[in-house]
Amino acid sequence: MEKIRNFCIIAHIDHGKSTLADRLLEYTGTVTGKDLQAQVLDDMDLERERGITIKSHAIQMDYTYEGQKYTLNLIDTPGHVDFSYEVSRSIAACEGALLIVDATQGIQAQTISNLYLALENNLEIIPVLNKMDMPNAMPEEVKDQIVELIGCKREEIIEASGKTGLGVAEILQAIITRIPHPEGSPTQPLQALIFDSEFNSFRGIITYCRIINGRLKTGDLVKFVNTGKEYVADEIGVLRLRPEPRNELETGDVGYIISGIKTSSEVKVGDTITHVENPCDVAIDGFEEVKPMVFAGIYPIDAEDYEDLRASIEKLQLNDASLTFEPESSAALGFGFRCGFLGMLHMEIIQERLDREFDMNVITTVPNVMYIAHTTKGEVYEMHNPSDMPSANALDFIEEPFIRAQIITPADYIGPIMTLCLGKRGILINQQYHTGGRIEITYEMPLGEIVFDFYDKLKSITKGYASFDYYQIGYRKANLVKLDILLNGESVDALSALIHFDNAYAFGRRICEKLKELIPRQQFDIAVQAAIGAKVIARETIKAVRKDVTAKCYGGDISRKRKLLEKQKKGKKRMKQIGNVEVPQKAFLAVLKLD
Ligand code: GTP
Repeated sequence: MEKIRNFCIIAHIDHGKSTLADRLLEYTGTVTGKDLQAQVLDDMDLERERGITIKSHAIQMDYTYEGQKYTLNLIDTPGHVDFSYEVSRSIAACEGALLIVDATQGIQAQTISNLYLALENNLEIIPVLNKMDMPNAMPEEVKDQIVELIGCKREEIIEASGKTGLGVAEILQAIITRIPHPEGSPTQPLQALIFDSEFNSFRGIITYCRIINGRLKTGDLVKFVNTGKEYVADEIGVLRLRPEPRNELETGDVGYIISGIKTSSEVKVGDTITHVENPCDVAIDGFEEVKPMVFAGIYPIDAEDYEDLRASIEKLQLNDASLTFEPESSAALGFGFRCGFLGMLHMEIIQERLDREFDMNVITTVPNVMYIAHTTKGEVYEMHNPSDMPSANALDFIEEPFIRAQIITPADYIGPIMTLCLGKRGILINQQYHTGGRIEITYEMPLGEIVFDFYDKLKSITKGYASFDYYQIGYRKANLVKLDILLNGESVDALSALIHFDNAYAFGRRICEKLKELIPRQQFDIAVQAAIGAKVIARETIKAVRKDVTAKCYGGDISRKRKLLEKQKKGKKRMKQIGNVEVPQKAFLAVLKLD
């Protein structure tokens, strides 16, 4: 146990966590030869393509320091706000954290929020100044910021580069000398904390855990404390580049268990594993339940895929404890699920993963945040969907979620940022000047206004220099109305949205224009209308077109004709028939693309 160090890497998005993790793996000889590729730990295709970390990844390294052999368990964590739940769970499995700060960018919003998460969990913080190789690095200035933020000594900050490998040896030394070894007792009854799990089509369900007390051997009969279910630990092991079986896991170890669990609902992240004989008295404090911020319907394109979709979402949930879902039905789309996400990027990623990992072709509906409705009879309930809105005479008032947003920006952009926040119904709370001409601005804003495109807009008006983080601060009364969209007179529930009354008219007009652009012309005119209650507030018409793709193939080449028809059919993927109108996926998300 004295020779184990468990640590994670935390940072603002793109400050170089995954790249620095690569250097550590290389330096310790954990990854060699053909396995050596950039961002080894980001093993999902999606992560590589987008260059972001979505999941936390654990990997074990060996390192000899001053003649002693140490086992280092590294957990790489995502940087984007939507995935901070991943970070909080990883932190619970560690005693220390490398806090990476990009020397060209300085402290950013998520540097601060992730640091606070680590401090709340009493982790030892090792500050690392990364990207020192870049010509525009500002080491002295950023060191000032780090000292100001965490109150460390200047000499404790390690200068590093994930590109050249500068500072890697020093980081390893700091991990061994500064981060405490795990505490816990090998002789006490087994307590292992589940911090992640995954469905593998060959191996079944793999549970990742950290042994807090006691030890676990292959073949042991174990029990999950919260669910009360018992299993045999068929295979246990450690997480090297690939899982490596071991006969025993000891106190302080991070590893995996495969135990013939059949359904994903049996594994709960945050649960404790113990022995059936000689169980522990209490479960370890698990994790706070996450509250989804954004809700949207997910529907199979083919109604027959409903059950498959359920199974796929269940499997995905196993690997992503922050995803929630419940069945719902829509007049327009049939049977599907109302899913809860932590943010828009999370929602996008889930849709992509369903497509790639489970081959599920789905339609996602207009996302919305959770509102609270108060009826005239004094009832109070949560609305996850605009269709939950009580009728006008039954409704007393609605409350919407508010957040406190922290924006860190160079002073030059303060004007445009204030205009943006004002447009999003923001209330300025505080402005604070920091070293290096940077300003921290605090706003209170409705969550519904920021989840969709706020971050993108902020990035574009500040050329990527501003960073942003937020947390929820409760619910406030709001004047919201339900805006319905009608296609040829038929209301399409999946396109309804809740909008602030002041914005409803402008919004209605823009959404009709956008839908006109996005819905392909069909063989008849389509009226697109926006309405509040019975009152139509905007209208556009999509003109008819006569289109016969096979008209080009005069003559009788039947195979060519078939090919063309097939091609046309493919193009219809992600289209949904609503009444007699075909609506593409893009149209369901049109609200997000309004400028
Ligand atoms: P997320 O996991 O998405 O939060 O990002 P990350 O913090 O893991 O950053 P990542 O390692 O993906 O690096 C972001 C970008 O910075 C990549 O294009 C890297 O090639 C580059 N980069 C990382 N470290 C260095 C460095 O030390 N020097 C230079 N010049 N570039 C670096």
